[in-house]
Amino acid sequence: MSRSRFLTLISLGAYGLVCVILYNRYIRQDTTPPTTMQGITPESGQSSAIVVGSGLAGLSAASQLVSHGIPVRLLERAAKPGGNSMKASSGINGAPTKHQLVADDAFYQDTIRSAGKAMDVKTTQRENLITTLVKNSSSAIEWLESKGVDLSKVAQLGGHSTPRTHRGAGQTPPGASIMTTLLKSLKESPLFHLQTSCTVTKVLHTDNLVTGVQYTCDNGEQNELHGPVIFASGGFAGDAEGLLAKYRPDLAGYPSTNEPRPGTQPLLTELGAQLIDMDQVQIHPTGFIDPANPTSPVKFLAAEVLRGAGGVLLRDGKRFFNELDTRERVTDAIRSAPESKIPHQWDIQLVLDEGTYNSTKSHVDFYLWKGLMKQTTIADLAPKALESIQQYAEFAAGKHDDAFNRKSFAHWTLTDPKPESVVYVGSVTPVIHFTMGGVLINEKSEVLKEDGEKIEGLWAAGEVSGGVHGANRLGGSSLLECVVFGRIAGDQCAEFIRQAGEGK
Ligand SMILES: Cc1cc2nc3c(=O)[nH]c(=O)nc-3n(C[C@H](O)[C@H](O)[C@H](O)COP(=O)(O)OP(=O)(O)OC[C@H]3O[C@@H](n4cnc5c(N)ncnc54)[C@H](O)[C@@H]3O)c2cc1C
Ligand SMILES: *[C@@H]1O[C@H](CO)[C@@H](O)[C@H](O)[C@H]1NC(C)=O
Ligand SMILES: *[C@@H]1O[C@H](CO)[C@@H](O)[C@H](O)[C@H]1NC(C)=O
Repeated sequence: MSRSRFLTLISLGAYGLVCVILYNRYIRQDTTPPTTMQGITPESGQSSAIVVGSGLAGLSAASQLVSHGIPVRLLERAAKPGGNSMKASSGINGAPTKHQLVADDAFYQDTIRSAGKAMDVKTTQRENLITTLVKNSSSAIEWLESKGVDLSKVAQLGGHSTPRTHRGAGQTPPGASIMTTLLKSLKESPLFHLQTSCTVTKVLHTDNLVTGVQYTCDNGEQNELHGPVIFASGGFAGDAEGLLAKYRPDLAGYPSTNEPRPGTQPLLTELGAQLIDMDQVQIHPTGFIDPANPTSPVKFLAAEVLRGAGGVLLRDGKRFFNELDTRERVTDAIRSAPESKIPHQWDIQLVLDEGTYNSTKSHVDFYLWKGLMKQTTIADLAPKALESIQQYAEFAAGKHDDAFNRKSFAHWTLTDPKPESVVYVGSVTPVIHFTMGGVLINEKSEVLKEDGEKIEGLWAAGEVSGGVHGANRLGGSSLLECVVFGRIAGDQCAEFIRQAGEGK
């Protein structure tokens, strides 16, 4: 084989691999058949812990349990493990770490500021939770690195006063790289038992003590497991007609970056768990409408960097807002116009020139490959687009102040737009991205009831819980909450099992 042919093959292979990774399809399906036994009974006679959900919160809890020698039964509703955690694309916060030396005080202040108005709602838990999140962020990053995850790159996301969001130096997005590493390490332990395609339907309890769960598997099997339970079942951003409609009727039926699936908080309120911030929902202004499946309830995120690097938003060929304003305000500007033919969707064009494309190539090549964006010319856009893009190019060149007060045009280089100028374009619409609310936990990940008492034998961590983010989650803080509160839940549950064993 000639050298160039060989190199072409290698780069095609690498490109394919990256695409496959990004498409989240490379986790092999867990084919372990559902078993009928009630907890593993190793020689020690130790009882097992039950973890519900195989996202980052669940895997963090499971890893911690296994490190204490506790057998884990993990139940996952989907056919493949990973949840939304697998899709995370920006990174995980931590301060200070060996990659970012700024102390954690600024992180605390940024989090309080972002939580905003919600901080006024009286609960003593918020500040405890935020303190734990921030104080434990260095050890969360260290722990992931000790497992072999590369987190050496640090970036600054919106709402942060300094860079503190960690990801790897390579092509693999942070969610996928964290999740595959943790799963691989867990699967090496004989104490870890994962069952996919099995949905927990009920939490078993006597009075105030949780004693196990009931579950139903896709193959029709119904069963129970007995033991203490950690809930790591994620948020309800994808529950468009259920919890979302209940707590935010104005957002009912919206598409989401999350898989469509019912929220699980009701399984816990049945036990008396208190809910907090359920109406606090994060919307992202730009999810791609896939031309091959425009009504799909799940959308790929059009990364913020596309706008940041110079991309422009057009409605009927016209600009309508500062593309770099906050997520909330850009979303409101889009929603102020009538919906498109598809209910709860708007048809906004995201347009990049060649300079912007060049600077975001790794993202855009993936979107082109997925058919979410296309390369075309301005003549192919709506009739008024040429005029709008000409004006934008003048603003970008500094000829006038931008009509929408945009200050940065980053990599936009097209100075003289013509009908035949090449652009990269995709249709976008606002999408439900993250739910701040959930069951109220304390700094030990214990689930609290309305009266502030904890429910025994039960912990919750990750997006299913609420209180940490208040009115607005900082980018990078949800992966962090999964690791911090997931590990704490694992520690607490292990201690609970140890004490129960001594009591026998
Ligand atoms: C596209 C995208 C990009 C993101 N990027 C970032 C980022 O860069 N940084 C960041 O910090 N955050 C990011 N987030 C948010 C973050 O990924 C999630 O908030 C976080 O992963 C939630 O983790 P989790 O473990 O709580 O839940 P999940 O990862 O969603 O896992 C929950 C699991 O529980 C299972 N489950 C639910 N109910 C049941 C049941 N009854 N029985 C059995 N199993 C059940 C679900 O199937 C799921 O697999 C992003 C989110 C999305 C969608
Ligand atoms: C974009 O990159 C290509 C390939 O490197 C180069 O030929 C082209 O001039 C670049 N265009 C702009 C506008 O930077
Ligand atoms: C941080 O997490 C570890 C591991 O779960 C726990 O042992 C420790 O108490 C936590 N520290 C703080 C300050 O919350």
